[in-house]
Amino acid sequence: MDKVLWIFLGIAGPLILFKLVYALSTALVLPRTRGAMFVGTSRRKIRAILEELSLSPSARVVDLGCGDGRFLRAVWRRYRVRAVGYEINPFAWVLARSLNALFRVPAEVRFGDFMQADLSGYDLIFCYLFPDVLPRLEEKIRREARPGTFIVSANFPLPGLKPQKVLHLDDPVYFYRL
Ligand SMILES: C[S@@+](CC[C@H](N)C(=O)[O-])C[C@H]1O[C@@H](n2cnc3c(N)ncnc32)[C@H](O)[C@@H]1O
Repeated sequence: MDKVLWIFLGIAGPLILFKLVYALSTALVLPRTRGAMFVGTSRRKIRAILEELSLSPSARVVDLGCGDGRFLRAVWRRYRVRAVGYEINPFAWVLARSLNALFRVPAEVRFGDFMQADLSGYDLIFCYLFPDVLPRLEEKIRREARPGTFIVSANFPLPGLKPQKVLHLDDPVYFYRL
Protein backbone atom coordinates (compact mmCIF):
# COMPACT_ATOMS: atom_id res chain seq x y z
CA MET A 1 0.00 0.00 0.00
CA ASP A 2 2.84 2.35 0.95
CA LYS A 3 4.46 1.74 -2.41
CA VAL A 4 1.26 2.63 -4.31
CA LEU A 5 0.93 5.83 -2.28
CA TRP A 6 4.52 6.84 -3.07
CA ILE A 7 4.05 6.14 -6.77
CA PHE A 8 0.86 8.22 -6.75
CA LEU A 9 2.60 11.08 -4.94
CA GLY A 10 5.58 10.84 -7.29
CA ILE A 11 3.32 11.34 -10.30
CA ALA A 12 0.60 13.61 -8.92
CA GLY A 13 2.87 15.71 -6.65
CA PRO A 14 4.76 17.59 -9.39
CA LEU A 15 1.51 18.10 -11.33
CA ILE A 16 -0.28 19.51 -8.27
CA LEU A 17 2.72 21.73 -7.51
CA PHE A 18 2.77 22.95 -11.13
CA LYS A 19 -0.94 23.82 -10.96
CA LEU A 20 -0.51 25.55 -7.59
CA VAL A 21 2.36 27.73 -8.78
CA TYR A 22 0.40 28.53 -11.95
CA ALA A 23 -2.71 29.53 -9.94
CA LEU A 24 -0.74 31.61 -7.43
CA SER A 25 1.29 33.36 -10.09
CA THR A 26 -1.83 34.13 -12.16
CA ALA A 27 -3.76 35.44 -9.14
CA LEU A 28 -0.83 37.66 -8.19
CA VAL A 29 -0.86 39.55 -11.50
CA LEU A 30 -4.60 39.50 -12.19
CA PRO A 31 -5.13 43.20 -11.31
CA ARG A 32 -2.49 44.13 -13.92
CA THR A 33 -3.56 41.67 -16.62
CA ARG A 34 -7.28 42.44 -16.19
CA GLY A 35 -8.30 38.87 -16.72
CA ALA A 36 -5.85 38.05 -19.52
CA MET A 37 -4.72 34.75 -18.08
CA PHE A 38 -1.85 32.66 -19.22
CA VAL A 39 -3.59 30.59 -21.92
CA GLY A 40 -1.65 29.77 -25.08
CA THR A 41 -2.75 30.27 -28.67
CA SER A 42 -3.09 26.87 -30.33
CA ARG A 43 -0.18 25.78 -32.50
CA ARG A 44 -2.56 25.32 -35.42
CA LYS A 45 -3.69 28.92 -35.11
CA ILE A 46 -0.12 30.21 -34.84
CA ARG A 47 0.80 28.27 -37.98
CA ALA A 48 -2.17 29.78 -39.83
CA ILE A 49 -1.23 33.30 -38.68
CA LEU A 50 2.36 32.89 -39.81
CA GLU A 51 1.19 31.57 -43.20
CA GLU A 52 -0.57 34.90 -43.71
CA LEU A 53 2.57 36.94 -43.04
CA SER A 54 5.80 37.37 -44.86
CA LEU A 55 8.69 38.41 -42.63
CA SER A 56 12.32 39.03 -43.43
CA PRO A 57 14.89 37.92 -40.82
CA SER A 58 15.52 41.56 -39.93
CA ALA A 59 11.84 42.18 -39.04
CA ARG A 60 11.12 43.34 -35.50
CA VAL A 61 8.35 41.32 -33.92
CA VAL A 62 6.84 41.58 -30.45
CA ASP A 63 4.33 39.42 -28.58
CA LEU A 64 2.59 41.53 -25.93
CA GLY A 65 1.96 39.04 -23.13
CA CYS A 66 3.95 36.15 -24.57
CA GLY A 67 2.80 33.43 -22.14
CA ASP A 68 5.06 30.39 -22.53
CA GLY A 69 6.69 31.96 -25.59
CA ARG A 70 5.22 29.62 -28.19
CA PHE A 71 4.57 32.42 -30.70
CA LEU A 72 8.19 33.60 -30.36
CA ARG A 73 9.51 30.11 -31.06
CA ALA A 74 7.17 29.62 -34.03
CA VAL A 75 8.35 32.93 -35.53
CA TRP A 76 11.95 31.83 -35.16
CA ARG A 77 11.31 28.43 -36.73
CA ARG A 78 9.37 29.85 -39.66
CA TYR A 79 11.21 33.10 -40.42
CA ARG A 80 14.44 33.03 -38.39
CA VAL A 81 13.28 36.24 -36.71
CA ARG A 82 14.44 36.88 -33.13
CA ALA A 83 11.19 38.14 -31.68
CA VAL A 84 10.71 39.91 -28.34
CA GLY A 85 8.08 38.93 -25.78
CA TYR A 86 6.82 40.79 -22.72
CA GLU A 87 5.37 38.81 -19.84
CA ILE A 88 4.21 39.92 -16.42
CA ASN A 89 3.29 36.52 -14.97
CA PRO A 90 6.48 35.22 -13.29
CA PHE A 91 5.56 31.59 -13.85
CA ALA A 92 4.91 32.12 -17.57
CA TRP A 93 8.08 34.20 -17.87
CA VAL A 94 10.25 31.44 -16.36
CA LEU A 95 8.54 28.86 -18.54
CA ALA A 96 9.04 30.91 -21.72
CA ARG A 97 12.72 31.46 -20.98
CA SER A 98 13.27 27.82 -20.06
CA LEU A 99 11.54 26.51 -23.19
CA ASN A 100 13.45 28.95 -25.38
CA ALA A 101 16.70 27.72 -23.83
CA LEU A 102 15.64 24.07 -24.20
CA PHE A 103 14.78 24.49 -27.89
CA ARG A 104 17.72 26.86 -28.49
CA VAL A 105 15.52 29.68 -29.70
CA PRO A 106 17.27 33.06 -29.40
CA ALA A 107 14.08 35.06 -28.76
CA GLU A 108 14.11 37.62 -25.97
CA VAL A 109 11.60 37.39 -23.12
CA ARG A 110 11.36 40.54 -21.02
CA PHE A 111 9.76 40.46 -17.61
CA GLY A 112 7.31 43.28 -17.01
CA ASP A 113 4.26 45.21 -18.11
CA PHE A 114 4.08 45.79 -21.86
CA MET A 115 2.19 49.02 -21.18
CA GLN A 116 5.61 50.40 -20.14
CA ALA A 117 7.32 49.18 -23.32
CA ASP A 118 8.23 51.35 -26.29
CA LEU A 119 6.34 50.01 -29.30
CA SER A 120 7.84 52.38 -31.84
CA GLY A 121 10.39 50.05 -33.40
CA TYR A 122 8.30 47.03 -34.32
CA ASP A 123 7.13 45.84 -37.73
CA LEU A 124 4.67 43.32 -36.28
CA ILE A 125 2.81 43.46 -32.98
CA PHE A 126 1.09 40.25 -31.93
CA CYS A 127 -1.26 39.90 -28.98
CA TYR A 128 -3.79 37.54 -27.51
CA LEU A 129 -5.37 39.57 -24.72
CA PHE A 130 -8.81 40.05 -23.28
CA PRO A 131 -11.22 42.86 -24.27
CA ASP A 132 -10.73 44.88 -21.05
CA VAL A 133 -7.10 45.58 -21.99
CA LEU A 134 -7.48 46.21 -25.69
CA PRO A 135 -8.83 49.80 -25.76
CA ARG A 136 -5.87 51.03 -23.67
CA LEU A 137 -3.44 49.03 -25.75
CA GLU A 138 -4.94 50.41 -28.94
CA GLU A 139 -4.37 53.99 -27.72
CA LYS A 140 -0.77 53.12 -26.96
CA ILE A 141 -0.28 51.54 -30.38
CA ARG A 142 -1.77 54.58 -32.11
CA ARG A 143 0.57 56.85 -30.10
CA GLU A 144 3.77 54.88 -30.52
CA ALA A 145 3.75 52.45 -33.44
CA ARG A 146 4.99 53.56 -36.86
CA PRO A 147 2.61 53.86 -39.80
CA GLY A 148 2.77 50.59 -41.71
CA THR A 149 3.12 48.42 -38.59
CA PHE A 150 1.24 45.15 -38.81
CA ILE A 151 -0.87 44.15 -35.81
CA VAL A 152 -2.36 40.72 -35.25
CA SER A 153 -4.86 40.25 -32.43
CA ALA A 154 -5.98 36.72 -31.65
CA ASN A 155 -9.58 36.11 -30.58
CA PHE A 156 -10.56 39.70 -29.79
CA PRO A 157 -10.55 42.80 -32.02
CA LEU A 158 -8.97 46.16 -31.35
CA PRO A 159 -12.18 48.16 -30.98
CA GLY A 160 -11.28 51.31 -32.95
CA LEU A 161 -9.28 49.87 -35.84
CA LYS A 162 -10.64 48.37 -39.03
CA PRO A 163 -9.09 44.98 -39.75
CA GLN A 164 -7.56 44.36 -43.17
CA LYS A 165 -8.47 40.74 -42.80
CA VAL A 166 -10.17 38.40 -40.35
CA LEU A 167 -9.15 34.77 -40.31
CA HIS A 168 -11.89 32.49 -39.03
CA LEU A 169 -10.37 29.55 -37.21
CA ASP A 170 -11.90 28.20 -33.95
CA ASP A 171 -11.91 31.86 -32.93
CA PRO A 172 -11.26 34.83 -35.18
CA VAL A 173 -7.84 36.37 -35.73
CA TYR A 174 -7.74 40.06 -36.68
CA PHE A 175 -5.05 41.47 -39.00
CA TYR A 176 -4.48 45.23 -39.06
CA ARG A 177 -2.07 47.63 -40.73
CA LEU A 178 -1.59 51.07 -39.20
C1 LIG B 1 -3.96 34.78 -23.29
S1 LIG B 1 -2.25 34.74 -22.87
C2 LIG B 1 -1.48 34.67 -24.46
C3 LIG B 1 -0.07 34.09 -24.43
C4 LIG B 1 0.65 34.09 -25.77
N1 LIG B 1 0.68 35.41 -26.37
C5 LIG B 1 0.02 33.14 -26.73
O1 LIG B 1 -0.66 33.61 -27.66
O2 LIG B 1 0.18 31.91 -26.59
C6 LIG B 1 -2.01 36.43 -22.35
C7 LIG B 1 -0.72 36.64 -21.60
O3 LIG B 1 -0.51 38.04 -21.46
C8 LIG B 1 0.07 38.30 -20.21
N2 LIG B 1 -0.20 39.70 -19.88
C9 LIG B 1 -1.43 40.27 -19.67
N3 LIG B 1 -1.32 41.58 -19.40
C10 LIG B 1 0.03 41.86 -19.42
C11 LIG B 1 0.79 43.04 -19.25
N4 LIG B 1 0.19 44.22 -18.99
N5 LIG B 1 2.14 42.98 -19.40
C12 LIG B 1 2.75 41.80 -19.69
N6 LIG B 1 2.07 40.63 -19.86
C13 LIG B 1 0.73 40.65 -19.74
C14 LIG B 1 -0.61 37.28 -19.28
O4 LIG B 1 0.15 37.03 -18.13
C15 LIG B 1 -0.70 36.05 -20.19
O5 LIG B 1 0.40 35.20 -20.06
